[in-house]
Amino acid sequence: MFSLQLKDFEEVRARIAPHIKRTPLLTSRQLSERTGFDVRMKAELFQRVGSYKIRGPLNKFALMPEEQKRRGVVCSSAGNHAQGVALAAKIHGIRAVVCMAENATPAKIAATRGYGAEVVLHGTIWDEANEKAKELVRDQGLTYVHPFDDEQLIAGQGTLGLEIVQDWPEVDVIVVPIGGGGLISGVSMAAKSFNPNIKVIGVESSDGPAMKRSIEAGQLQTIDCQTIIDGLRVRRAGEINFSVVQRYVDDIVALPDRDIFDAMIWIMERCKLVVEGAAAAPVAALLHGLIQAPAGSRVAVVLSGGNVNLDQLRGLTWN
Ligand SMILES: Cc1ncc(COP(=O)(O)O)c(C=O)c1O
Repeated sequence: MFSLQLKDFEEVRARIAPHIKRTPLLTSRQLSERTGFDVRMKAELFQRVGSYKIRGPLNKFALMPEEQKRRGVVCSSAGNHAQGVALAAKIHGIRAVVCMAENATPAKIAATRGYGAEVVLHGTIWDEANEKAKELVRDQGLTYVHPFDDEQLIAGQGTLGLEIVQDWPEVDVIVVPIGGGGLISGVSMAAKSFNPNIKVIGVESSDGPAMKRSIEAGQLQTIDCQTIIDGLRVRRAGEINFSVVQRYVDDIVALPDRDIFDAMIWIMERCKLVVEGAAAAPVAALLHGLIQAPAGSRVAVVLSGGNVNLDQLRGLTWN
């Protein structure tokens, strides 16, 4: 059964350290006063590419055999995974192809190309773009980089959890957003291998709680996913992720998109930080009292990314 120890994460972190930032753990008086906890925010929105999504691919590519590297890699994503794979591949001198649906936003296409990846537009939804990626695996021998269900990728994402426990060894609770479960798989193993008493709590949108439903059912479920929050929008969590979450995650809470969007604004207003929806979910859970812990508990929330489309703000008049 897949399990990683603290020393594994330390090795992975050393491997990727030259290429990532050590993002800060910011205190928040506002959140602490509101909740009665001692709250700190892991500000991963300041990571290269604007989210934690570069950590896993950097680890995967560092471990990849030369022959595979020469052929190149492919993924399908219009979001943070695309940018993480693109920059990590560029750093390792690997050809990267990113498949996106034809209706992907021009800004995301440009950002991914800007990191040096080739973008292939195909179909109108992710599943169709993903079929194209699989075709390139068959026809060109490219290696497919899964967005969450991959051991080396999970090990890389988990370095974020290692940094939290290194910077705040007294932490009692870590709150992490869940899409397919890549981030929380890594973070939960890093945290529990440091101290098994640390509670790890996942947050999903109740408009698409694929992992929560699966855990409740005791097996993976494919759900009808309605959330519009990029990053949390997954119809089926990963196999490896499900098994890790079953063993290492203490609780999963869920709340509607609306409350998560309100938390985004709250964070902008009170903390002066621009985070995307997925990253606001842990704060939303705190603000709505869904995180159960004794008063005064030391709680770390993962602000996992800041790639939010603010185009609609452009037309506003200020003041
Ligand atoms: C900013 C952000 N946070 C959280 C998640 C969810 O991560 P995972 O799919 O690893 O559970 C994603 C996934 O794309 C993301 O982009």
